[in-house]
Amino acid sequence: MSDSTLIIDGVRAKDIAASVGTPVIVYSQSEIEKRLMEFTESFKSPRLNTKVVYASKAFSCGAMLELVKNAGCGLDVVSGGEMYLAKKSGFPMEDVLFHGNNKTPREIEEAISWGAGTFVIDNRLELRRIISYAKDIKRKCRALIRINPHISAHTHSYIMTADLDSKFGISIDSRDEILAMMDELSGSEYVEFTGFHAHIGSQIFEKDAYAGEIDTMAQLIAFAEKNGCFVKCLDIGGGFAAYYTSEDSPIPVPEVCRTIIDACHTAMDKYGIRLETLMIEPGRSIVAEAGTTLYTVGDTKRTYSKKYVFVDGGMCDNIRPALYGAKYRCDLAEKMDAEKTDTVTVAGKCCESGDILIHDIPLPPAEPGDILAVYTTGAYGYSMASNYNRIGRPAVVFAKNGKARCVIRRETYEDLDALECSRDIEF
Ligand code: LLP
Repeated sequence: MSDSTLIIDGVRAKDIAASVGTPVIVYSQSEIEKRLMEFTESFKSPRLNTKVVYASKAFSCGAMLELVKNAGCGLDVVSGGEMYLAKKSGFPMEDVLFHGNNKTPREIEEAISWGAGTFVIDNRLELRRIISYAKDIKRKCRALIRINPHISAHTHSYIMTADLDSKFGISIDSRDEILAMMDELSGSEYVEFTGFHAHIGSQIFEKDAYAGEIDTMAQLIAFAEKNGCFVKCLDIGGGFAAYYTSEDSPIPVPEVCRTIIDACHTAMDKYGIRLETLMIEPGRSIVAEAGTTLYTVGDTKRTYSKKYVFVDGGMCDNIRPALYGAKYRCDLAEKMDAEKTDTVTVAGKCCESGDILIHDIPLPPAEPGDILAVYTTGAYGYSMASNYNRIGRPAVVFAKNGKARCVIRRETYEDLDALECSRDIEF
């Protein structure tokens, strides 16, 4: 920020809005690179190989995958679409982890034939499909079994993944089933069992949650080893929190990495297990704070008790406030030093009462044409965007050291009806 103008990675926000239009999600590329590096440099252990795997569901496009690749990280994908992007972008497929609780037969075939390195197996039926297809086409891959460790992280119920009835993975209490799965894998010539995966939720602020997860998983590893199965690898998932508002105090990356590594060393000694590799899968914490969405203020309106500022996007480019009650901060990009004398509600343009981006936030008086910048929109904004009301998805810009490049263009009206057809279906 300089004087009263918002600057993102050396570029004036207003200039980006003027040339690309709004809404636009502007990423500070330097910030993404910094986060990737912070993770790769902090997540190191003298006793273990370590790997940082970027969870591409948080935000992906070719330009993003390039940064992930350059940082030497792996890639977590959960669908054929995310995997296709990896393949198309020249991402090393060996470093791709294929997640998901209902991989379709087609996705399994694609993953194996495109050379995805590792499957994170959700259930036994899936396991059999993978073993059978890998055998058919004689291609090798690795497998982690996804475990539900029943560790509760205090986060929104929609993004908790380890409660008793979560749809993800096999309960850690179902030890016979886990052993049976490892047994089936040991009989496969093509799919190698390498270890376990767990993920306890997202936007997690508590270090203890990770330490608890590791201790619990280490007990399972000890049990597997006692039953003659060597567990090389433990992947403890993602979930590291980002800073959205002053209510949030995310654990700094080096600290959370240290906690995880220390907890793992402690657990290895405590349970006498011989792990070789430890992995984490951060998504949000790499991209959230790097992203800022720029909107143009349209009309403003007073109601009985509120003052609304309307913007030219909304739940179609950021569903998080409506879906999770997520909170955000914002500023007027050209009035950064102006006194915040108003308290306003920032509402989107979708035909839905719940389309409110920010409730009751202090702002300088806003006028039509002002650029409103909402911070920390880099994760699960674009990736969860929709075309509700036939609103095109925003453009995405990467800024770095005073330069900016558009990495995803805005969707046009033509894009919106590009899929329409009138084709008789032959039965
Ligand atoms: N690994 C697995 C297996 C996951 O399911 C997820 C996120 C991650 C890694 C990355 O988690 P992160 O580091 O980004 O917290 N749409 C929600 C978040 C859903 C997270 C889903 N899984 C939101 O906007 O808050």
